[in-house]
Amino acid sequence: MATILVPKEEERPSELVGRSVSRVEGRLKVTGEAHYAADYDVDSLVYAVVIQSTIASGRIIKIDMKEAERAPGVLGFLTHQNAPKLNTPIRDFMKESVMDEKFLPLQDDVIRYAGQDVALVVADTFENASAAASHVKVTYEEKKPIVEFNDGMAQAYKPESFMGFRPAQIKRGDMTLSNGIKLERTYTTPVEHHNPMEPSSWVASWNGNSLTIYNSTQWVRGNRSVLSQVFGIPVDKIRVISYFTGGGFGSKGFDSVHEIVAALAARHFLRPIKLSLSRQQLFTSTTHRPATIQNLSLSATRDGRLTAIKHDTISQITFSGDFFEPCGGVSAELYACPNVEISHTVVPFNTAGTGAMRAPGEATGSFALESALDELSYELKIDPVELRMMNYANENPEDGNPWSSKYLDECYGLGSTQFGWTRRNPEPRSMKQGRHFLGWGMATAMYPGIRSPAAAKVRILPDGRALVTSATHDIGTGTYTILTQIAAETLGLPIEKVKVEMGDSSMPFAPVSGGSATAASVGTAVKESALAALNKTMLLAAGDTKSPLYGVRPEDMIAEEGGILSERSSDSFVEIIRRNKLPFIEAEATAAPGEEQEKFSFMSFGSVFAGVMVDSELGEVRVSRVVGVYDVGKVINPKTARSQLIGGIVMGIGMALMEHTVYERVHGRAITTNLADYTVPVNADINKIDVEFIDKPDPHISSLGARGVGEIGITGVAGAVANAVYHATGKRVRDLPITPDKLL
Ligand code: MOS
Repeated sequence: MATILVPKEEERPSELVGRSVSRVEGRLKVTGEAHYAADYDVDSLVYAVVIQSTIASGRIIKIDMKEAERAPGVLGFLTHQNAPKLNTPIRDFMKESVMDEKFLPLQDDVIRYAGQDVALVVADTFENASAAASHVKVTYEEKKPIVEFNDGMAQAYKPESFMGFRPAQIKRGDMTLSNGIKLERTYTTPVEHHNPMEPSSWVASWNGNSLTIYNSTQWVRGNRSVLSQVFGIPVDKIRVISYFTGGGFGSKGFDSVHEIVAALAARHFLRPIKLSLSRQQLFTSTTHRPATIQNLSLSATRDGRLTAIKHDTISQITFSGDFFEPCGGVSAELYACPNVEISHTVVPFNTAGTGAMRAPGEATGSFALESALDELSYELKIDPVELRMMNYANENPEDGNPWSSKYLDECYGLGSTQFGWTRRNPEPRSMKQGRHFLGWGMATAMYPGIRSPAAAKVRILPDGRALVTSATHDIGTGTYTILTQIAAETLGLPIEKVKVEMGDSSMPFAPVSGGSATAASVGTAVKESALAALNKTMLLAAGDTKSPLYGVRPEDMIAEEGGILSERSSDSFVEIIRRNKLPFIEAEATAAPGEEQEKFSFMSFGSVFAGVMVDSELGEVRVSRVVGVYDVGKVINPKTARSQLIGGIVMGIGMALMEHTVYERVHGRAITTNLADYTVPVNADINKIDVEFIDKPDPHISSLGARGVGEIGITGVAGAVANAVYHATGKRVRDLPITPDKLL
């Protein structure tokens, strides 16, 4: 790769934020030089394979390892009978990272789901460990598992809050004041698995009482904290490393029980351990999106004004965890409606811990709400876009706060134009091409604008380059690239002169790479630490009689072209560091949200328009076109942001048409544990996707004006596709995924 030394005119640092810069780590990825957790081979490494329960509920009676122990290369086993006791970490997501399950692994004989770790074998090679694992015989006392709502309703309950974040039960206004027509419908969404490209993996090694763990994770600092509690060792004795994470979508956001198992085994066997889940195990032994049943009722006047929304969600949780799908949030905040009632009821299942999957609550809740609005638009004979504009929320209807910024009306307008929506004949089955029915549908996208405290360190080096560090992660999203852009623009350097390092728990604090919050949180920390480093540099120049900038006030200086300029003179980073005999100039800054959080509501919005072709003989649905227009504040990098949105839309198409983890009721096992039975969209399933941005900065989220783009892309897609399928066929499918059997 040729190194560009002088930035081309269009790559001037002062305009780097907002520019489509290609991924700075792209070359490492396509050449295989980017190392993921399982790529690390440390000295005297041995391999662990987990042996997992084949029943979903009951107890372990006996683990017979006679034959397995004689298998070649075996170092030993860990089970609940010989595993050391561990400390239970705190479980308060508002304070700390939490484990994806309430129970520590290998601590008792209770089985809560099929796929639960019951033993672990360690051998000299992965193959020997796998072979030995296949000889382990576990006897169980089996109870009837619960893997369906019908079987578990007796244990249903209503939680007070969603993970401590927001209330799970909401009432506003007076539901008896609902008037006009009333539409009551039930929508369901299935269990879905994240299916990142990189299976969850760990390489754990101990040096005395110090632990180093290469981890495929969305939160190195969270992992460090949980490991510290579980093993009872100080955080500074633990180093969690994740330079690259091959997709997470929420599955690597909590602390995995297998991470604990890997660290436990490494300590027990006094050898570095590599543990990697198989693709099959990702379906049985990692978190997943909970199944939901959503009862939704909308009341509206004949002229299209919503008078009441009632959104009752029944969500799966599990006996091992407590995460449920908070579907009602969209109904509380998306449209202006005086009377609203939101409830969540949870039903525990015998499956692996439920967890966050891309836009938890919004992806599923918006499917129900946006389908119901489409149904209402047919009842009232009002165009779906117009109906949404009639109920436009100029302020957050739930807390009454003004939006920090909102351009959803422009999203509808631009989306309609791009798609050609006004040419639509609303009549179902009004468009046919050969044996295909064509249909057009639309929906609203939304996802909160979240920001958390974060820190970063910026070091200006003696050669005029800069190094940025923060314990954040690039989970495939483009974090390396946007942080490089932000630091380079702030320091007045070309991007080639800025290096960003991340994914190491010893670096300055960063929050979980979740909630689409990294750009606003860590991006702002990088900007502020770069400004602080710059300010130090300016003060050095101003106070140095040998500097051409001697006596100039820092506020009269700007950073440009590798140094500092005033109106009449300049000095370079290289010279300033050399004259002051410094190893480097460095500043660390923490950036945190402030009182604006109380004054404004932060939400990103979008409009999604979908065109489908439905085979009238086979019932197969193909999405021929999607137009998505998004108001996400300032777009830091249109290229990586567009990729995020396209990825979200593709995942939304999977949610609409394909994805569904199926469990059998007898033993409670997942039976779609591969990518042939659990299908996700491939290139051949995806046609034209157009993504547009409104690209107006949010003046309140942070000085960057960006709200983040990781999750909003999946929201609204299933609704838009389902609405298009109805328009095409006249059949309203309320149960995802929309598979051919539901249309024939
Ligand atoms: Mo996400 S589902 O906040 O990683």
